Amino acid sequence: MEQDYTHIKDLLNLKEVGTVKSIRGWIWRIRSSGGVVFAIIRDSTGIIQVTVSKKNIDEKKYNEIEKALVESSIEVTGTLYEDKRAPNGLEIHVTNFNLVHKAENFPIFKDQNEAFLLDNRHLTIRSTDLTNIFKIKSTILKGAKKYFDDNLFFEVTPPIITGNACEGGATLFSFDYFGNKAYLSQSAQLYLESLIYSLENVWSITPSFRAEKSRTRRHLTEFWILEAEEAWTPLAKNIKIQEDLMTTICETVIKERANELEQLHRDIEILKNINPPFRKIKYEKAIQILSDKGFDIHWGDDFGAEEEHALTIDEQEPIFVTHYPAEIKAFYMKLSDDGKTVENADLLAPEGFGEIIGGSERSNDIEYMKKRLINENADVSKYDWYFDLRRFGNVTHSGFGVGVERVTRWIAKAEHIRDTIPYPRTTNRYTP
Ligand code: 4AD
Ligand code: MG
Repeated sequence: MEQDYTHIKDLLNLKEVGTVKSIRGWIWRIRSSGGVVFAIIRDSTGIIQVTVSKKNIDEKKYNEIEKALVESSIEVTGTLYEDKRAPNGLEIHVTNFNLVHKAENFPIFKDQNEAFLLDNRHLTIRSTDLTNIFKIKSTILKGAKKYFDDNLFFEVTPPIITGNACEGGATLFSFDYFGNKAYLSQSAQLYLESLIYSLENVWSITPSFRAEKSRTRRHLTEFWILEAEEAWTPLAKNIKIQEDLMTTICETVIKERANELEQLHRDIEILKNINPPFRKIKYEKAIQILSDKGFDIHWGDDFGAEEEHALTIDEQEPIFVTHYPAEIKAFYMKLSDDGKTVENADLLAPEGFGEIIGGSERSNDIEYMKKRLINENADVSKYDWYFDLRRFGNVTHSGFGVGVERVTRWIAKAEHIRDTIPYPRTTNRYTP
C-alpha cells in the first residue's frame, strides 16, 4: 500500500468524517463479534478504533485479521465515521489493510509482577503509561532547551570518561582505562566551570553514573543530569535562574502534554500554579521544622527521602533549602561568612517528592578546597587542572544540576523513578 499515511492525532483533530484515510501502527486491542473485527490501532500519536466487516472484504483477508494478535503491525485504509461507542468517538470502516507483521503471542499483560516486567522491559516500554511519561520527559527537555536558548546559554558537550570525582568517592564507578584507573562521570560540573571563562553561560545534558547502594524510589545508578554553570553569578542569581528554568519547563509541559498528564491522572492545576519566586528556607530552619514534626534530627545530619518528604508533602510549589553545613556538601561549594555553612541551594519538589536540583556558588579558595579533598582521602593532584581555573581570571560563579528523571517523576507524578527512564539501572539490574 503506497500512499500517504495520516497520524492518528490528525484524524482525531480534523474529524473529517466521510473521507477515506490510511493509517499505520500496531494493534493494541482486537476482538471480533458477528462477522466484524474491532481493532484499536495505536501509533505514536494516539489510538483509533477500526472495524473490518466480513461483508466488505474478501474471505481470506477477513480470516487473516480475525486471527491477528495484539502488537501486530498493520496499515489500514478506510472511511472515517463518527461513533460514540468508540474511544475518541471516531472509527475507520476498513476497505483494505495490510498486515505488515503478524505478532506472536505477546507475553505482557495486566498484573504481572515487577521483576518479570523489568526482565521484559524491551517489550513493556510500549505500555501506555510509559509512553505518556516518555513524551512528557521529551517535552521537559524541550522546555529546558528553550529556556537556555532564550537566555544566552551555550550547550556544550563535556566528557563522560574522567580522571577525578566531582561528587565524592563513595559513589564512583571506576574502570580500567588502558592500565590506568578512570571513572564514569557523576556530574559535568567541573568541566562546565572551565567553559564559563569563554562562553560565560553554559549548559549540558549528560548521563550521570553513581554507584548508589541505596535502593529507593528515587535513585538510579545511571541517570541524566541537566547542568548549567554561570559566570558573574552569586547564589541568589543562580536560584533565580533555576526558578525561571523550572517555570518554563512546567509551562511547556502544560501547553503540549495536557492529554498525557490527564491520562496519567496527574492533577494539572498544581503545575499551572507554579509561579516564582519559590519559598526559601535555610537548612537550620528545615532542621527545626523536622524536629517539630518529631524527627530525631540534629544540625549536621543530611536529609534522606523521609525528611524531604516531610518537608514538602504540604507544599504546592517547589521550595529551596539553602545553606547546608559545609561538611555534608561537596568540596567545591563556597563557604558562607559564618564559616560553617555553604552558599548552596537544593530545590525540593512539592507533594513529598523532594530533591530535584542541587546547586551552589563555587568556592574560589584553593586551599580550602584542597583541605576538603584531603579530608575525603581524594588524590588532590588529580584536581590541579581544576584549581588552574581559579588562577586565571576567576569570577564569582554558580551552577546547578537537575535530575532529569527526578523532575519527570514529579511532573508526571510517577510512582517510581524507574518509570521515567526506558532502561532503569539499579544495583541489581543492568539488562536488558
Ligand atoms: O545534587 P547532585 O549530586 O549535584 C551535582 O551533581 C552537582 N555537581 C550539580 C551541579 O551543580 N552542576 O545531583 C544533581 C541532581 C540531584 O538534585 C538529583 O535530582 C539528581 O541529580 N540525582 C539523582 N537522580 C537519580 N538517581 C540518583 N542516584 C541521583 N543522584 C542525584
Ligand atoms: Mg544533591
